[in-house]
Amino acid sequence: MINNTNELKTKINMDKLPKHISIIMDGNGRWAEKRSLPRNFGHQEGMKRVIETVEAAYELGIEYLTLYAFSTENWKRPASEIEGLMKILIIYIRRELDKITKNNIVINILGDISELHEIPRREVEKAVERTKNNTGMVLNIALNYGGRDEIVHGIKEYLKEIEMGKVSVDDLNINSFSSYLYTKGQPDPDLVIRPSGEQRLSNFLLYQIAYSEFWFSDVLWPDFKANHLYEAIIEFQNRNRRFGGI
Ligand code: FPP
Repeated sequence: MINNTNELKTKINMDKLPKHISIIMDGNGRWAEKRSLPRNFGHQEGMKRVIETVEAAYELGIEYLTLYAFSTENWKRPASEIEGLMKILIIYIRRELDKITKNNIVINILGDISELHEIPRREVEKAVERTKNNTGMVLNIALNYGGRDEIVHGIKEYLKEIEMGKVSVDDLNINSFSSYLYTKGQPDPDLVIRPSGEQRLSNFLLYQIAYSEFWFSDVLWPDFKANHLYEAIIEFQNRNRRFGGI
């Protein structure tokens, strides 16, 4: 790994940037446990990496950045950890919303936030509302998100439209179905980044990542630096994407 951030950044081909990068921010708990700290300290440190990563992606000119913040399965965690994560989300929005708005970033939520507690839900709704007319980078925050849940939700939405007579069964195809997903209107992720040494999808964007490139690293999310993002992008730019062709 090249350690000089600026040196690595200059190796990025700005004409071949991935349009959409998505990140499974994993390893917060292990980072904290290694230091004999409560798991929420790892999430707090993870939030700082969120701030830096959004900044780095914005500065590069990435069009879509998706961050996996809370899955439909994360409700199985102890109540204290869930509460801690929601507090961190609130702190993040309160701390960053002005800058995000000024930087013309759109906050978009992937997932069903109606199941969130009232205070985090309101905070998230405020962030979405305040940034909805921005025209720059789209920051998707996957919150109470699950890929299977999203597909079933999309199918239900489609069936409702059939019932209303708006569409017919034959209108459904792999492209039209995309518009029933939370990522409606967005390009599929070109690059999926998963730190922390785990090499699995964890129910993330199952429909959208059919032809995404993957970049795995042993670094835990609280140790993730702009350099790791640059490294992932450079490796992506050296991949040969064939999309099933030759
Ligand atoms: C996975 O690590 C991480 C999460 C479940 C939460 C991610 C949340 C943040 C980084 C902070 C808040 C987010 C935003 C957008 C402000 P883990 O706890 O599963 O780690 P482990 O596998 O080491 O236990």
